[in-house]
Amino acid sequence: NNYVLIMAGGVGSRFWPKSRNNFPKQFLDILGIGKSLLQLTYERFLKLCPKENIFIVTNNQYEDIILQQLEGITSSQLICEPSRNNTAPCIAYASFKLQALNPEANIVVAPSDHFILYEDVFIEKIKIALAYTEQNEALVTLGINPIRPDTGYGYIKYASENVEGVYKVAQFTEKPTLDKAKIFLEDGNYVWNAGIFIWKVGSIINALQKHAAEIHDLFNKGIANYNTELERGFIDTHYPNSPNISIDYAIMEQADNVYTIPAEFGWSDLGTWASLYDAAPKNEEHNVIAAQQINVKDTNNSIIHINGDKLAVIRGLENFIVVDEGNALLIYPKAQEQEIKEVVKEMSISF
Ligand code: GDD
Ligand code: MG
Repeated sequence: NNYVLIMAGGVGSRFWPKSRNNFPKQFLDILGIGKSLLQLTYERFLKLCPKENIFIVTNNQYEDIILQQLEGITSSQLICEPSRNNTAPCIAYASFKLQALNPEANIVVAPSDHFILYEDVFIEKIKIALAYTEQNEALVTLGINPIRPDTGYGYIKYASENVEGVYKVAQFTEKPTLDKAKIFLEDGNYVWNAGIFIWKVGSIINALQKHAAEIHDLFNKGIANYNTELERGFIDTHYPNSPNISIDYAIMEQADNVYTIPAEFGWSDLGTWASLYDAAPKNEEHNVIAAQQINVKDTNNSIIHINGDKLAVIRGLENFIVVDEGNALLIYPKAQEQEIKEVVKEMSISF
């Protein structure tokens, strides 16, 4: 009954300009190891269940890229959205569809753009979570020990240990302000939400009904259509009308049956340039440099990506991001990188 649902429909705008609307981050070989983040994610889950039980939920637009990148995945395993409404509707749609296939489905929902160093530890923790959700109406998320007051994550305050390794969540706060993030970090009883969720299909559908009724009702109306030839028409008509909200705000902050499994498996979100900086090897001046021809001096703690054979000369940069990619150039202070998402949104050009 174990299934994996990989979410691969985001645009990765905080990784602009490497991540572009028509080819976002999850499809890129960000780490320079010959595989995209999506491919690494898929291969990781092959250690958990047969490939037939792995589904990918994404935007219509990326269907071809995914079929090309994931050998062994057929179009019946792709769940395609006609519009971008964030992760709550994406998960709701996929859940109703999986429920129609198997009402007992026990599902791992995972992002497509993370890096995980210790895959065996990761799979072990997932198995603990699946065993727990099989028996309990619980929404489980993996928790990561926080190392900086990052405002891009969900913060989980955990309470008592329920069974070995599984903790009841007292409070879930998605993307707090910097002040709050600092307090949470000092408190010591918080973990970061890894964005990897485990639940039975019935548990998430119940939670949607309770805390996100509009989304629940919209997809519930299509119940007779899923996995039939009527599905496409129903989804194309109704999906775009769903509220635009992430699962973290819609469900995780609201529900009272949330549990976390704190785990260390060499997790890196690779959500932003600074997180790539943290994960990548640095030179003596603490720079992360990817460029064919470059002359750098008096530059520290910076991340520099120059695509192609452009010759770059750089002097006197401290804590900066420099990314030259295609028709775009980004020069931005590392400390303000969370703004890049908004900047990209503001720009009227298709990015
Ligand atoms: N199919 C689909 N449709 N996928 C989507 C959509 C959508 O509309 N929007 C985002 N995704 C995918 C992204 O590609 C990514 O793999 C995943 O869903 C999570 O979306 P992000 O946009 O990357 O979320 P986030 O990083 O801001 O926050 C989430 O992850 C953090 C950890 O990395 C939250 O769950 C946080 O609480 C968490 O700390
Ligand atoms: Mg992310």
